[in-house]
Amino acid sequence: MPMNFSVIHTDKETQARAGILQMERGSLETPVFMPVGTQATVKSLSPRELEEAGAQIMLNNAYHLYLRPGTEIIREAGGLHKFMNWPKLILTDSGGYQVFSLSLLRKIKDEGVEFQSHLDGSRHFLTPESVIGIQNDLGSDIMMPLDECVHYPASFDLAQKAVDRTTLWAGRSKKEWAKTQRGVLFGIVQGSTYPELRKKSAEELKSIGFQGYAIGGISVGEPQDLMYNMISFAARELPAEAPRYVMGVGLPEDILEAVSLGADMFDCVVPTRYGRNGSAFTSCGKITVRNGAYSRDRTPLDPRCDCYCCRNFTRSYLRHLFNTGEILGLRLVSYHNVYFFLDLMKKVRASLHEGRFASFKREFLSRYRQKEG
Ligand code: GUN
Ligand code: ZN
Repeated sequence: MPMNFSVIHTDKETQARAGILQMERGSLETPVFMPVGTQATVKSLSPRELEEAGAQIMLNNAYHLYLRPGTEIIREAGGLHKFMNWPKLILTDSGGYQVFSLSLLRKIKDEGVEFQSHLDGSRHFLTPESVIGIQNDLGSDIMMPLDECVHYPASFDLAQKAVDRTTLWAGRSKKEWAKTQRGVLFGIVQGSTYPELRKKSAEELKSIGFQGYAIGGISVGEPQDLMYNMISFAARELPAEAPRYVMGVGLPEDILEAVSLGADMFDCVVPTRYGRNGSAFTSCGKITVRNGAYSRDRTPLDPRCDCYCCRNFTRSYLRHLFNTGEILGLRLVSYHNVYFFLDLMKKVRASLHEGRFASFKREFLSRYRQKEG
């Protein structure tokens, strides 16, 4: 049993579903949010805090870890789980996206991609095969193949070339993965905003055959309605019995919409990135902790939240921590934000199990959009 995915409940009004994904190391309930630990840490939070906040899986980036500390150091440490002391599941992104968004002077050929590190300018060449090797060394549970992600807007021709290369690389990744069969490998659907390319990409990946499918090239600058259309279209082209992972999404409202469209897995840097900047997600919308209006506000960040931060600290105190540049402030707000996203998914799953997802979504959004400041 490398991986088993079972859909346990399918919503009657939308495409949403609740399921369970089981692997040897552990299981997770879907829809699931995966906190992002780019550099083998979810910024400012300890693994103990993540577990306490309800995280079932962490996402890490092969690109960053390959550059620093280097794959060898992590392999010698016994893999990423031991290296960072995270016993639960790990999904690693391939670096496809990071090479295109971060690195300098990249040259892409069918063989692979040559680029210069964004850290020190050193030259590297990654191939679909070497990227599987890196993720094997990391000891990843769920691996992503090297892919080519285009930004928005992209011409049809450019998007088509990226799909062709993504398919070519997906096939080579599968072959390389099959040599060890460690963990599981997902496919990544590309195709920019073109329905016919999304369909072609999904079909080609299905014929190679993967245990799960990611929808990539989402949230790359396109308007929200196009984003929802592409998720909807790609999800419908993918097999119902495999998990669907929308990469890099997103804000609470985007996650809820994508769940309605049939997506099962999500990751986003938003809870920790916003947390470090003093933006807190609350059941009544996003708030700016530094706001002078909170100087004497002795209520918690979110009165409806049961997290450690909300049970123990006031907005007034958190505002003080941010205004004085105290690192506890960003830690507490990051913790609350991660808890908020994980708790939202818990509520989504409960509503699906109880057959009331559509009304949950409506009620959550109506409160969330009322915005208090
Ligand atoms: N993260 C967000 N979008 C993408 C994508 O299209 N490909 C990969 N590999 N990672 C992503
Ligand atoms: Zn909280």
